[in-house]
Amino acid sequence: MKFFLDTANVDEIREACSMGMVDGVTTNPSLIAKEGRDFETVIREICEIVEGPDIIPVSAEVIRLDLEGMLSEARHLAEIHRNVVVKIPMTVDGIKATRILSREGIDTNVTLVFSPLQALMAAKAGATYVSPFIGRLDDISQEGMTLVEQIVQIFHNYAFHTQVIVASVRNPLHVLESALMGADIATIPFSVLGKFASHPLTDKGIQSFLNDWNKFQKC
Ligand code: E4P
Repeated sequence: MKFFLDTANVDEIREACSMGMVDGVTTNPSLIAKEGRDFETVIREICEIVEGPDIIPVSAEVIRLDLEGMLSEARHLAEIHRNVVVKIPMTVDGIKATRILSREGIDTNVTLVFSPLQALMAAKAGATYVSPFIGRLDDISQEGMTLVEQIVQIFHNYAFHTQVIVASVRNPLHVLESALMGADIATIPFSVLGKFASHPLTDKGIQSFLNDWNKFQKC
């Protein structure tokens, strides 16, 4: 399973890269705005940080919502760096744009997916990735993980190549359940990724080994 980092903060990306935990990066307009920096500069810098022998996808979202606007922004974003994946909102024009961009060889991530049929449309349009937003469904008392389960099943039934990015991840359990369901990718906020490594029994075990070692040294 791939881990993408869901952030536009370059320090977080550098830190997660040093752990080898960045198979990709996703951003959105809110995450970019939070950094208070120029959009294209941030995207270029992220692409340079993750650059290596393999292409590490970096999702950058279009702002315009009309078809022509989306296409022109998408083509421009794709020229910033070979790692850029264009994030397209799940609308009728978004689906049309995805279909055209896919034929032009531009990778797309159809975002703000909240139903299995939206995901199916995106896959049929040739999306490289679809992003079901799990946490936002949980927030309105709908089971977010059920959506992931259904999309994974549908893509498996018809052998779609579109990869599922579990997005709007709020806690480690979202990632664990996604892995068990066979989702391709989870895009994870840095704060959530940090929680994976720790366990109170690990801390307790380290302390108890050190205590025993120190006692032995004094003998
Ligand atoms: C994914 O691509 C989005 O950037 C992100 O996961 C949205 O998460 P949120 O619902 O916590 O804003």
